[in-house]
Parts: sequence; C-alpha cells; structure tokens
Amino acid sequence: MNLIAQGAEAKLFAENGEILKQRFEKAYRHPLIDMRLRKCRTRQEARLLERLALMNFPSPRLADFSDKSMEIRMQQINGVLLKDVLHEKHLEFSNEIGRRVAELHNKNIIHGDLTTSNMMLDSSNRINFIDFGLSFISDKAEDKAVDLHLLKQALESKHYLIFEECFNTALDAYKEHGINSELVMQRLEKVESRGRNKRKND
Ligand SMILES: Nc1ncnc2c1ncn2[C@@H]1O[C@H](COP(=O)(O)OP(=O)(O)OP(=O)(O)O)[C@@H](O)[C@H]1O
Ligand SMILES: [Mg+2]
Repeated sequence: MNLIAQGAEAKLFAENGEILKQRFEKAYRHPLIDMRLRKCRTRQEARLLERLALMNFPSPRLADFSDKSMEIRMQQINGVLLKDVLHEKHLEFSNEIGRRVAELHNKNIIHGDLTTSNMMLDSSNRINFIDFGLSFISDKAEDKAVDLHLLKQALESKHYLIFEECFNTALDAYKEHGINSELVMQRLEKVESRGRNKRKND
C-alpha cells in the first residue's frame, strides 16, 4: 500500500485502484471522545458517499467501511487536485463548483469543508468532490450559507488573485441552479456581516 496523503485526521493509501482512508488516533483528545469522533466521521463519510452514488454525483464510490477500524475504502479518482489547476480555467471551474454545490444543497447535503483541496478533476475533467467527513444533512438556509462562506474563505486564502471572480461566478451558478437560493443569499449576507462585525470588535 502506498501512503498518498496524510491529513489532519487521516492517512490515505492507494491500492489496486482504491483509496483506503484511515482515521488515526489523536493523542491530545480524550480517548473516548476521540473514538466517538472518528467513528462518527467515518460513518458519516460512508453514509454520504452512498447517498451521492444514488444521486450519480461526481464523488468517489464507496467500496467498504468499518467503524471498528475507522476505515473507508473508496474508488480512487485519477487526477489532480483542483487547487493546482483552478487558475487554468478559473471561470469554467468556478461555474461548475457553484452548480455542484447547488446540487448538494438541493438535497440538503452540507459539505462542511468546501476547499479546492477537497475537489479533484477526474479523467474526463469533471470536478469530483471528496472528504465528506464533516458533512451533514440540513435544510436550513443558515447551514447552506455557512457552507458557501467557507468556500469563499478557502478561495480567498488559496487563490487570492482570482478569488473574487471565482466566487462571484460560483455564486451566479449557485443562484441559477439552487432551490430557494434567494433565502440562502440573504443568509449569506448576514453571515458575512457577522464576520465583519467580529473583525471590527476583535
Ligand atoms: N478518492 C480519492 N481518490 C484520489 N485521491 C484521494 C481520494 N480521497 C482523498 N484523496 C487524496 O488524499 C487527500 C486527503 O484526503 P481527504 O481530504 O479525504 O482527507 P483529510 O483532509 O485528511 O480529511 P479529514 O478532514 O476527513 O481528516 C486529498 O487531498 C487527495 O489528494
Ligand atoms: Mg481534505
């Protein structure tokens, strides 16, 4: 097995066209809390991948999971992280991001960590979404708005030269494809003004 990535919470191995994602122990957490958290995220990610497969959504297909050994086996996406190629066709990619996030939100799926490191291009150049360990189901405009706000912050920190164009393009696509997107947009303004006030008072 080849170790291909080690994130904050998990080690990822590649083997025979599949990825094994293992959530390892965090020594600084209380052992019981740590176990519950890893169990919860492993289950949640597996559950979400199953749901996404039913939607035919571009994401890795789940092969197997175990909440005893805190592992998920899933299809390997053969391609690059969007983070490394966003600038090559940033408007096209941003449009696709907005449309796909709307598709998730229309099914009340909140990704929870919308960054360009959690998006990969597959062999047909489609954006696949990965890393659903922080995802959850909610129909609240607030949760959807926060999801978009995190996307904005991720774009700003990793792609600061093009981030405004990217985010505006993604939002336009989101508005076009999202059910109730006006409500989410109103909420997004509130989320952002909260952020601004917080910064002013810091
Ligand atoms: N299905 C996959 N196919 C190919 N590469 C993958 C796949 N899943 C993950 N990777 C690679 O591994 C990296 C880390 O994966 P992931 O984002 O799921 O873990 P993480 O950030 O540690 O997650 P978590 O926040 O759940 O601890 C990704 O950025 C990507 O490079
Ligand atoms: Mg990740």
